[in-house]
Amino acid sequence: MGRVADPDGWADEVVLRDGRRCEVRPITADDASALTAFHARLSAKSIYFRFFAPYPVLTADDVERFTVVDYRDRFAVVVIANDLLVGVARYERMAQTEAEIAFLIEDTYQGAGLGTILLERLAVAASDSGISRLVAEVMPSNTRMIAVFEHAGFTSHQATGDAFLTFEAGVDPLLAMLRSLLSHPGSIEERHE
Ligand SMILES: CC(C)(COP(=O)(O)OP(=O)(O)OC[C@H]1O[C@@H](n2cnc3c(N)ncnc32)[C@H](O)[C@@H]1OP(=O)(O)O)[C@@H](O)C(=O)NCCC(=O)NCCS
Repeated sequence: MGRVADPDGWADEVVLRDGRRCEVRPITADDASALTAFHARLSAKSIYFRFFAPYPVLTADDVERFTVVDYRDRFAVVVIANDLLVGVARYERMAQTEAEIAFLIEDTYQGAGLGTILLERLAVAASDSGISRLVAEVMPSNTRMIAVFEHAGFTSHQATGDAFLTFEAGVDPLLAMLRSLLSHPGSIEERHE
């Protein structure tokens, strides 16, 4: 198999906890209009959990920044279902061996296991790119994101004065944990190379 951080050569078919099927693959510049449409369908709450501010319409600059990635320092995977983009997860390298991760899943696809599946894809791509630590900033009221990170073994802290929690995990222990979490039926079903 090629590097997970490569744009070509892989797409996973995943089966969600409720039986729905989706495809997970690296983002490309061709996803720009689908990403804009996805963003417009999201609830204000989902947008707030992701961006910590109201943000109903993506700017053209942001669409380009989000979809044109180098697959090494900036990487993202998208979820496609019924020809619609219904989720995106990304990392951005912040230091030589550390990257920040973020997730955004369409409201009707939340709570079905995608968060953990996308976390695994990010962790493998990060490992391929020499990143050994992942961090994320999360609103304390974002119980779903917190549950995903806690189940995967992340540690968290809240710096004095910060409105958000910071979650951190080493990539190697994270991958070991995710392999065991996702080894049950109903996670990644098939990998096309
Ligand atoms: C936060 C978010 C990415 C989580 O993804 P998700 O696909 O909804 O999450 P999952 O289905 O994988 O996990 C969440 C649920 O599964 C449970 N869960 C997760 N991992 C589990 C595990 N290993 N074992 C048992 N339960 C688990 C959680 O308790 C939670 O339960 P709930 O459905 O009753 O809420 C998604 O909800 C989202 O995009 N939200 C809006 C944007 C956002 O919050 N972004 C985060 C900014 S970093």
